Amino acid sequence: PTAKAHKIKALQNQHGERVKVFGWVHRIRRRGKNFMFVVLRDENIFFIVQCQTYDAITLSSEATICVYGVVRPIPEGQTAPGNQELVADYFEVIGHSPPDGADTLLNEEFHPDIQLDNRHMMLRGENISKILRLRSIVTQCFRDHYFDRGYYETFPPTLVQTQVKGGSTLFCLDYFGEPAYLTQSSQFYLETACPALGDVFCITQSYRAQLGRTRRHLAEYTHVEAECAFISFDDLLDRIEDLIVDVVDRVLKHPEAHLVFEVNPGFKARKRPLRRMNYSDGIEWLTENGIKNEETGRFYEFGECIPVMPERKMIDQINEPILFCRFPAELKSFYMQRDPKDSRLVESVDVLMPGVGKIAGGSMRMTDFEDLSESFRENGLKTESYYWYLDQRKYGTFPHGGYGLGLDRFMKWLTKRHHIRDVCFYPRFVGRCKP
Ligand code: 4AD
Repeated sequence: PTAKAHKIKALQNQHGERVKVFGWVHRIRRRGKNFMFVVLRDENIFFIVQCQTYDAITLSSEATICVYGVVRPIPEGQTAPGNQELVADYFEVIGHSPPDGADTLLNEEFHPDIQLDNRHMMLRGENISKILRLRSIVTQCFRDHYFDRGYYETFPPTLVQTQVKGGSTLFCLDYFGEPAYLTQSSQFYLETACPALGDVFCITQSYRAQLGRTRRHLAEYTHVEAECAFISFDDLLDRIEDLIVDVVDRVLKHPEAHLVFEVNPGFKARKRPLRRMNYSDGIEWLTENGIKNEETGRFYEFGECIPVMPERKMIDQINEPILFCRFPAELKSFYMQRDPKDSRLVESVDVLMPGVGKIAGGSMRMTDFEDLSESFRENGLKTESYYWYLDQRKYGTFPHGGYGLGLDRFMKWLTKRHHIRDVCFYPRFVGRCKP
């Protein structure tokens, strides 16, 4: 039989015509002896096929078929995925599936480790495939945000010989006989791009040899990073605020924005301005709210690190995004610029989100060659390996700042998933490197 092949999405315009559709059998409902409904799935839509079963006995879920028939809107009062159905007159099996279908692999009630071993099959489920589609849309919205604002995209290496964060989270490897690492952040490379390209961004994998198993740490994650020349710290905060508000707006305007509400029905757009809070306000907030340091039994004091639990209590109680700024220098990275108004502090910012915690971190970067060299030495880092980073301060230094945002954490926030691994294609964390 002849008929034109269509994607399920394109069938809205083909009602009444005879068409041909390829897809995977998502579910089968048999009705009586010789009639069945098949939920057919192609890359992003599900819909119902009604067929006679006399030649469909061997059909099981996850088989691939090619169906011929006439499409029509579903009868009033009924519901079906895609709101249309195909009354089939013929179909061919392209690829069989075992008689019990994929039921032994595809079950959201199995132990998470078994589900992860079968991630390649679990992807075909409705929940995960929705999240992965949404992740693609969100990534596009990040890119569109940057391109609309005149940034250039760069592609930094992920095999490196320098570190941006502490050595304890470095993945080390043998690079043709030389020591090398998997990158923790592309920040230093982006900084070198500013004099050549101006405002730049990258969306690249970063790696952290994180030993603890938590709901928000991965060993490999997607890092959205940007670096901007000739800006002030306030400009940096404005840009981060603009990024978050604008990307959420773009996602919600996307033709497939319904995916957000299917996954997280309560999700809301964010309004400018986002709340800004200094570290010192945070210390005060904890005291006013009776939250003490559990180890010492005393209230937190200036200079102390605010651990994850009290930070979580603060964010969840305030219950809105917070730009948490100006930390004491000792608590932050060696390359951060001091606050000109208070030299104990650095011009740093953590973006905190309810339900997730920190989703982004950024700062103004130290511009002075001597200060930066000194900071390298204080942190036990050999300046020789960082000659290229220091050269930025030798040849026309300039005020600049940037940030890194964890795309997986952003997705965890957007989709309100319990665990960060739920928003990954193939999550990588301690003990998990397959499939
Ligand atoms: O705060 P971090 O460590 O900052 C940097 O790496 C800077 N050099 C970025 C920059 O300024 N260009 O990491 C940035 C973000 C975190 O806020 C978090 O969202 C994410 O990266 N992140 C992780 N996400 C998942 N698993 C992990 N183990 C992560 N570590 C950091």
